[in-house]
Parts: sequence; structure tokens; C-alpha cells
Amino acid sequence: MSSIPTVTLNDGAQIPQLGFGVWQVPDAEATPAVRAAIEAGYRSIDTAAIYENEAGTGAAITEALAGGVAREDLYVTTKLWNSGTRDWSGEQGRDAVLREFDASLAKLGLDQLDLYLIHWPRPMHGDSYLNIWKAFEQLKADGKVKSIGVSNFGTEQLTRLLDEASVAPALNQVELHPYFPQTELRAFHAEHGIATEAWSPLGQGKELLAEPALVKIAEKHGRTVAQVVLRWHLQSGVIAIPKSVTPSRIRENLDVAGFELDAEDLAAIAAVATGKRIGPDPQEFDWN
Ligand SMILES: NC(=O)c1ccc[n+]([C@@H]2O[C@H](COP(=O)([O-])OP(=O)(O)OC[C@H]3O[C@@H](n4cnc5c(N)ncnc54)[C@H](OP(=O)(O)O)[C@@H]3O)[C@@H](O)[C@H]2O)c1
Repeated sequence: MSSIPTVTLNDGAQIPQLGFGVWQVPDAEATPAVRAAIEAGYRSIDTAAIYENEAGTGAAITEALAGGVAREDLYVTTKLWNSGTRDWSGEQGRDAVLREFDASLAKLGLDQLDLYLIHWPRPMHGDSYLNIWKAFEQLKADGKVKSIGVSNFGTEQLTRLLDEASVAPALNQVELHPYFPQTELRAFHAEHGIATEAWSPLGQGKELLAEPALVKIAEKHGRTVAQVVLRWHLQSGVIAIPKSVTPSRIRENLDVAGFELDAEDLAAIAAVATGKRIGPDPQEFDWN
């Protein structure tokens, strides 16, 4: 949609700055949710192998393409579940990545993906993400995916990639909202040409949306708190992927043009930061 701004990645590709996330949406519900999102005007969808809804998401994408939406106007992201149950080292690790990628692409019903991400760095298992990244570079060289990036990476892992890999990550998708604004990581990204994408951009729809300082700003602009928070992401140059299965909220979250947060608003939003995460610390997180 022309009203959604885009961010140009370091490989020249463009990603819509506002997308639609589907974590915790069961497979069968992903189809109506993604359908509602595309009908509302979203053109970017964020899923992951571990969400177990790539097929349901893909069904809505297939439907949209059959209904006349052009493939080049849709932006689809999924993520490799680099779980702890598998050895990601060596040739067999790289082959496993290629197989996982093909399985995701088939479930999505696509022949090319826009963005593939390593879901977690798992640094307690050494630098297996470097080996995984080699397979990502191969997928990109083969034209199976347009852009490759990471999720939940810290500066240490990003530095290793920047120093040792051939292709720099296009983007790092991390927890980011007014309570946890990731100021230092964002500065590192900016310095190294890595785009910042926010997960849980609405703070998972909990206390953040009732935060008095944000309610005041929302009243001032005649908007909802969710719209103010998404506006803040956009004005910060961050890509945001809010999730909702509620059609009215799906539309509300896209309707964030036509107002501007001023310096006073931005200062008030900066003041609500607690530095506390909602999700796990990626440097310690090791699910199977
Ligand atoms: N890479 C990672 O490790 C990672 C981790 C977490 C998330 N993500 C991605 O980021 C996406 C978004 O994060 P998230 O799902 O954790 O949280 P979120 O988008 O911050 O919040 C979603 C929650 O907020 C509610 N909500 C949405 N819009 C609202 C509105 N306008 N007013 C009031 N409530 C609203 C939703 O409820 P309803 O659905 O009931 O409307 C849902 O409970 C995920 O779906 C996923 O794609 C990635």
C-alpha cells in the first residue's frame, strides 16, 4: 500500500515499515487473520517455522495472489528454528538449514521468500550461527530468498557476522517497545547498516497500552495508544510487525498516518522506558 512507508535494506531490497505478525495464532486461525490483514492493506507478513502456522498463513497468501495481489507487492518473512535438538555444525548443519528452508517455503506455497531470519543466536552453544549463516548466504546466492537477516542477536554475534561473513545481515528483529527501546542496539545497527525490526511492538498489548503518559498523548491526538506506539516506531525508523486476530484492531494498527508525534510526545514516551524485557534475554535463551 502506498501509504505504508518502506525501509531500504543494505542489499537494496525494500521492506514495508509496518507488517503483520502471527505468533501464537493457531494454523487454522492464521488464514482468516492474514486474509483480514491483506484486505486491510498490510503487505508484509511475519511468521516462523516454530509458530506452526506457515501453512495457514500460506493459504491466505495463495488466496490473495489468486485474487489479484501481485507477488512483488507482498513481503513474506519466516524464521529458521535453530533448536537445541539438532547439531547445526558442519556440512550436515548446513544441509539441515536448506531442508528447513524448503519445508517452510513449501508450507507457505511460495517459490521465493523475501526474508529469512535465524530465530535465536543461542550463544551458549558457541558460534553455530556462523555455520547456519553460510547456508543462508547460499540460499540468497541461489535466489531462493531475497534478503537474509537475524533475530534476537546481540552486538557480539552481529560483530562476528560482520567480521567473518560475506553477506552482512540485512536486519535484526528484536524485542522493542517504549518500555524496552533498545537504544544502544539501535545505534549499533545504524552504524553498521542493519535495519531494526521490532517484535512485540505493542508490548504484547498489556500494561503498555494503559500507560498513563501514553494515554495522554493518545487523547491529545485523538488516536488510540496502540496507534501512538506504532507511530513512535515509524518515526524512530523502526520496522514494526504488530499482531492481532481482531479485525477492528488489524485495521486500527494500520491507520497510523495523518498525525505526527512532536518533541514533547517523544520525550514523554522516552520517559516510560523501564529497561525491562517482556520476553527472554536472547543471550540466555535456549529452547528446544
Ligand atoms: N523473533 C522473535 O523471537 C519474536 C518474538 C515475539 C514476537 N515476534 C513477532 O512479532 C509479532 C508481534 O509481537 P507479539 O505478537 O508478541 O505482540 P504485539 O504485536 O506487541 O501485541 C499483540 C497483542 O496485542 C493485542 N493487540 C493488538 N493490537 C491491539 C490494539 N490496537 N489494541 C489493543 N490490543 C491490541 C493483540 O490482541 P488480539 O490478537 O486479541 O487482537 C495481542 O494480544 C509476533 O506476532 C511475531 O510475528 C517475534
